[in-house]
Amino acid sequence: MSAGINIDYISHTFKGQAEPTLKDIDLTIKPAERVALIGRSGCGKSTLLHMLAGLMLPSEGCVRIHGHTLTRPSAKYNMMFQKPSLYPWMTVRQNAELGLLFAGKKDPDKVDRLLAMVGLSDKADVSVQSLSGGQQQRVALARSLATSPEVLLLDEPFSALDAFTRSDLQDEVSRIVGSEDLTMVIVTHDIEEAVAMADRVLIMDANPGRLIGELTINLPFPRNRGAREFSDKRTELMNKFEKLVGDDASPESSGQIDDSAASFAAA
Ligand SMILES: Nc1ncnc2c1ncn2[C@@H]1O[C@H](COP(=O)(O)OP(=O)(O)O)[C@@H](O)[C@H]1O
Ligand SMILES: [Mg+2]
Repeated sequence: MSAGINIDYISHTFKGQAEPTLKDIDLTIKPAERVALIGRSGCGKSTLLHMLAGLMLPSEGCVRIHGHTLTRPSAKYNMMFQKPSLYPWMTVRQNAELGLLFAGKKDPDKVDRLLAMVGLSDKADVSVQSLSGGQQQRVALARSLATSPEVLLLDEPFSALDAFTRSDLQDEVSRIVGSEDLTMVIVTHDIEEAVAMADRVLIMDANPGRLIGELTINLPFPRNRGAREFSDKRTELMNKFEKLVGDDASPESSGQIDDSAASFAAA
């Protein structure tokens, strides 16, 4: 079952800071919707995602999932990070089944199914140290899915991977999100990734972190990166981002989105 998420006027000020990091974030995410959150480095994307995972509570406002206010983390709202954070002395299978073991539910058949889903059946019993970066992220994905989450939260999960592995994994996660009927929120600084994976892209600005615009990506899955409609959306999103966020050259906000702009321009 997929879950709807309500974000009710979240504001957040970290201890010891004068200015809020997040301000008046108000948003409804429909069950099974796929949302991408884009914005420059430091605008508060990870902070907001941690709140959706129940890993952090906002100083004002709340997050509701299925209408219930989130007060702590749950295996139902699983988060996947940029680093796979695997236990190096364990095998692929042992890492993948950790979530289930923590939940007290040993289920070897399910782990087999998950490893097949992420394309690692033949690696089940090898050490994770022998895997490539992309394969390690697949293990982390299998582990995230093991507890049958309703919401999958992804914080720049593919940014350390090479371009080919990255687009393979984007497609694979999109397929699994569809087949498992998950609600997905992905944080990214990559315009192409947002267009490849989301139904709706939210644009965030910094100081204070807030939502300043959105773009609907009404293209069918699997997404075809070579299609005219895809590159039109990519251009539309890039233009919208630049118009709304602007060419702020301050050191804190320079960098990541500009990299995507450069690779887009070069494409
Ligand atoms: N625990 C913390 N204490 C104080 N400031 C923090 C903390 N975590 C993040 N911040 C600040 O909040 C802002 C947003 O951070 P973050 O959510 O990580 O941004 P993003 O993911 O968009 O790059 C940054 O200025 C960061 O320094
Ligand atoms: Mg971040």
